Amino acid sequence: MISVTPLQPDDRATWEELFCGYNAFYERTWPAGNYEHAWREFQRGDRIHALGARLDGRLVGIAHFLVHPSTTSPDVCYLQDLFTAPDARGKGVARTLIQAVEGWARARSCARLYWHTQQHNHTARRLYDQIAEFRDFIVYATPL
Ligand SMILES: CC(C)(COP(=O)(O)OP(=O)(O)OC[C@H]1O[C@@H](n2cnc3c(N)ncnc32)[C@H](O)[C@@H]1OP(=O)(O)O)[C@@H](O)C(=O)NCCC(=O)NCCS
Repeated sequence: MISVTPLQPDDRATWEELFCGYNAFYERTWPAGNYEHAWREFQRGDRIHALGARLDGRLVGIAHFLVHPSTTSPDVCYLQDLFTAPDARGKGVARTLIQAVEGWARARSCARLYWHTQQHNHTARRLYDQIAEFRDFIVYATPL
């Protein structure tokens, strides 16, 4: 059974393993201090937010998200990070997490939930194509 809740203080170590896995997926290595900074922000919960998915009680998935204003609508919710432990994939964990973020955003009167993915992330896109609309944008970025 999958349940989704905010991350609890006891989740700290497993959350970091999962977030490390996510960063490794994107070939990023992060200093330990960045994890601590993000964790504190999640615990405060006023700027960025996190939910954790448990499969039979074990934390196996994380979603990180935030709300920002929009020029053309009420606030919108951006899902920044989504990761499921490799041995728990294909069981509906990510789908359940996205639904939970959607519920969270709806309760805060957000107009939309959206996220990015890489064009070649076929595994993720198989899920996203089932639950969301592909809007055909591409992303440019400049490091500052
Ligand atoms: C993408 C990711 C989050 C999916 O997590 P998950 O918990 O396995 O996803 P779910 O079990 O909820 O997947 C549901 C659907 O996605 C598709 N899917 C997910 N994993 C699949 C796989 N390995 N093979 C085939 N289809 C898969 C299926 O269509 C599945 O629906 P179905 O079971 O009704 O057919 C996970 O693979 C992951 O963490 N990948 C590495 C990081 C990443 O890509 N994050 C997303 C970045 S935008």
